[in-house]
Amino acid sequence: MTGIIVTTRESESRTLELEPEATLMQLICDAGVDELLALCGGVCSCGTCHVYVDAEFLPLLPPVEEDEDLILQESPARQPNSRLSCQIRLTEALQGLRVTIAPEG
Ligand code: FES
Repeated sequence: MTGIIVTTRESESRTLELEPEATLMQLICDAGVDELLALCGGVCSCGTCHVYVDAEFLPLLPPVEEDEDLILQESPARQPNSRLSCQIRLTEALQGLRVTIAPEG
C-alpha cells in the first residue's frame, strides 16, 4: 500500500501521497482536511493536530518526546496510540501509514 490513509471524524478515508520530509500535519493540512486545525503551526504547543495511529505503525515512529507528551496529557481524548501529527516526519518507511483524526478536545 502506498500513500498515507487518513480517516476523518466523519469516518471518511482519503489516501494522500506521501511527501518525504514533510510532517504528517503538513500533509493533512495541505490536502485540505480542515478538521485538523494545527493552530500553532507545528511547534508542539496546541494539540489540535492530534491523531490516532494504527497500532502496527507505532513501532516505526520516533518516540514521544516530553513536549509532545505534555500536550497529549491535556487531551481527554488521549489513547495509547495518540500522537501529534506535527511531530511525525514522513519517510518512505511510512508508506501505508493509517491515521484517524482524534476528536476535538
Ligand atoms: S500543530 Fe500544534 S501541536 Fe501540532
